[in-house]
Amino acid sequence: MQIEEVRSHFPALTQKIYDKELIYLDSAATTLKPKEVIDRINHYYSYENSNVHRGAHYLSQKATDLFEEAREEVSHFINAESSAEVVFVKGTTEGINLIAASFGSFLSEGDEIIVTVLEHHANIVPWHMLAEQKKIKVNFVHLDESLDLSLNEYQTLLSEKVKLVALTGCSNTLGIKPKIKDLISMAHQHGSKVLIDAAQLVSQDKIDVRALDCDFLVFSGHKLFGPTGIGVLYGKKKLLDQMPPYQGGGAMISDVSEERTLFNQVPFKFEAGTPHIGGVLGMAAAISFFKKIDINEVKKHERKLVQYFINFFEKEQDVVIYGAKEKLNSIVSFNIKNCHHSDVAQLLDQQGIAVRAGHHCTQPLMKYLKIPGTIRVSFSIYNQESDVEKLAKAIQKAKELLL
Ligand code: ALA
Repeated sequence: MQIEEVRSHFPALTQKIYDKELIYLDSAATTLKPKEVIDRINHYYSYENSNVHRGAHYLSQKATDLFEEAREEVSHFINAESSAEVVFVKGTTEGINLIAASFGSFLSEGDEIIVTVLEHHANIVPWHMLAEQKKIKVNFVHLDESLDLSLNEYQTLLSEKVKLVALTGCSNTLGIKPKIKDLISMAHQHGSKVLIDAAQLVSQDKIDVRALDCDFLVFSGHKLFGPTGIGVLYGKKKLLDQMPPYQGGGAMISDVSEERTLFNQVPFKFEAGTPHIGGVLGMAAAISFFKKIDINEVKKHERKLVQYFINFFEKEQDVVIYGAKEKLNSIVSFNIKNCHHSDVAQLLDQQGIAVRAGHHCTQPLMKYLKIPGTIRVSFSIYNQESDVEKLAKAIQKAKELLL
C-alpha cells in the first residue's frame, strides 16, 4: 500500500470536530484505527465469539485456532524465535509490571536497575515499587546537551550489580530514539538483562528482537492501529521458562490438587483467565494492515512531516522545540514562551486540532528539563502536509490570543 492511500482507511478522519475537519496529531497517545481492524473485531463478536483453550465445540476450536494464529503473526512481526515467546498482556504497562513482579522476584538487596530520564512512568513506577520491596537501587541515565542519552553516564552506571536495564526505544515526550542495539550490547557485557519499552517505537520502525538481542520487549496494540486493552510481552524463552507466574487462575495451570498447583508451559503460564480474544484478533489485523506499508516509507513520511513542522518555527524566538531537530522522527514537544501549554492545547482543540499537553506521564523528565509540561504533536501514517500547515496557522492564532 502506498502511503498516500492510507488515509482513506481511517473512518475517524472523515468526521468534523466543532464543525472543522479533524486534524489528529495525538497518535503517540493512541493511533486511529483502520476499518480493517474495526471490521475484524466486529466479525469476531458477530460470528466467532467463543472462549479459547477450553471448549469442546466448533466455535471454541475456531476461536482457539485464530487466537494462536494471531500469536504466530505477532511472533513473525517482531522476529521472535518462537510464538512461545509472545505473551498477551493488557498493554505495555501490564507487560512491564509482569516483568517487575516475576523477573523482579530474582533480585535481592544490593542489586541495581538502570532506567533513563526519558522513561514513561510505566517504566519507572514498577521499578520504584520493586526497589521499596527488595531494597534495590534504581539509577537514572540523564541527557547530554543535545537532549540525547548520556552514553558516558550509562557506561559509568553499568556494573556487575546491575540486573536489568529498562529503557525506551523512543521517548513518548521528546521523540528521541536511543541507540538501543548498542545499549543492549553494553548491558550484556556486564551480565545485565535488558527490557525495551517499544510502545512508541513499534509504529515507527521495524522491530527485530533477534537482531536487537533484547531479553524483553513490550508494546501495546492501541499504539499500533489496534484496539486498546491488548499488548505484547516478548521474552526470551529461556528466561520466561525460569520466571514464576504473574497471576494465578484458569489456563495457566497444568494440574491443580488440594495441596498444590503445577503450572502450564510458556506463554500460557503468564496468561491467567479468559484473554482479550477480540483484542488479540484486532491487533493481528492491525499488524497485517501495517505490514502492507513499506516501513522505510513510514519513516520517511513521518520525518518529512516533522521537518516541515520545524521549518515553520525554527526561526521564531518564542517557540522552543525540545531535542536535537535532526533526531526527531515523529514526535515533537514544544512550548510557546509566556503561554501555558494547556491554554495553547485548548485553543488548538477549538480549531479541530488534537494534540497532547502536560507532562506526558514523564514527570522526572519535566523536572530534569525544569519545565511543567509541553505541547506534544505526534505524526503518523495518515497525517499530511496540510495538517502541519493548519497546525502552524492555528499556533499563530493561539499566540495572537495569548500574548
Ligand atoms: N503513553 C501515552 C502518551 O504518551 C498515553 O500519550
